[in-house]
Amino acid sequence: MKEKLSKIVEEALAGIENSEHLEKLNEIRVAYLGKKGELTSVLKGMKDVLPEDRPKVGQMVNDARAVIEEKLEAKKAAFEKRILEEKIASETIDVTLPGHTPVAGHKHPNTIALDDVERIFIGMGYEVVEGPEIEYDYYNFEALNIPANHPAKDEQDTFYINSDIVLRTQTSSVQVHEMEKGKLPIRMIAPGRVFRSDEVDATHSPSFNQIEGLVIDENVTFADLKGTLAEFAKEMFGEKTKVRFRPHHFPFTEPSAEMDVSCFKCGGSGCRFCKGEGWIEILGCGMVHPRVLEMRDIDAVKYQGFAFGIGLERIALLKYEIDDMRLLYENDVRFLSQF
Ligand code: DAH
Repeated sequence: MKEKLSKIVEEALAGIENSEHLEKLNEIRVAYLGKKGELTSVLKGMKDVLPEDRPKVGQMVNDARAVIEEKLEAKKAAFEKRILEEKIASETIDVTLPGHTPVAGHKHPNTIALDDVERIFIGMGYEVVEGPEIEYDYYNFEALNIPANHPAKDEQDTFYINSDIVLRTQTSSVQVHEMEKGKLPIRMIAPGRVFRSDEVDATHSPSFNQIEGLVIDENVTFADLKGTLAEFAKEMFGEKTKVRFRPHHFPFTEPSAEMDVSCFKCGGSGCRFCKGEGWIEILGCGMVHPRVLEMRDIDAVKYQGFAFGIGLERIALLKYEIDDMRLLYENDVRFLSQF
């Protein structure tokens, strides 16, 4: 019996030693220790053993069982360790490998310039408002003191929807909507798209963007206009920027002017960028024409106002030294990713 047990143990240990994976270990466990396993069958043969020998034999079977179990556990632990080591090795991250930079979008130069303009005027207490792109002829022209037969109406080649409705040619129409609300004082800027039936070239597009400005209050003077726009120019183009106002004509302002800023490339001495002028025109402006106020029932003696209109693309082109407006509309990512 003793020999038989030793043989079983020997075989079992060899089997365990030579097994290559967890499943094989399980098979061995069943084969030796299971219900129909070899050790169990030895126990079943106890009835043939002399009663006085039974405790001894029982002890021997139990010892054999313990030896096999211990070996099984040790081998199992070794397998599990190996599996874990393989897993760790296969999941190692090489931190020295070059990474993939995620592709991020970019703000369009127009958007960057508009963000700047809005930030500056909001800082001065202005509200940002919007008006419709499809507009009554009345708001785009007549209410801005541009009567039906006025040459300015021809100058701006208008897209007509029908005889009363146009695609707005200027954001000045938003001035009228704001005055119509009947709340004074007004201090607003109105950015938005405008439309003119122009051919596309380096400086023209049938659709571009303007930023309208309007202030109406008591005791507003041309000095307020100059101070405000000079401050805007400094914040937009740099502390050293100087401004100058040239007399001009707009039907809805009187007096009217165009404002130039000193060339921020050469500082005013004249260069290729400012075409030797030292100055660059950036906006139109003026004191709101009394007739425009009166048409909205605003007392033009008590209230005065100033207005201005900035070309957004012009600012973006200047700021980023882009020489062709078409680049702003083509949305070529190679161009846009530079900003
Ligand atoms: N609406 C004018 C244009 O499109 C620009 C302009 C000039 C707007 C003077 C104004 C202004 O508010 O005061 O050419």
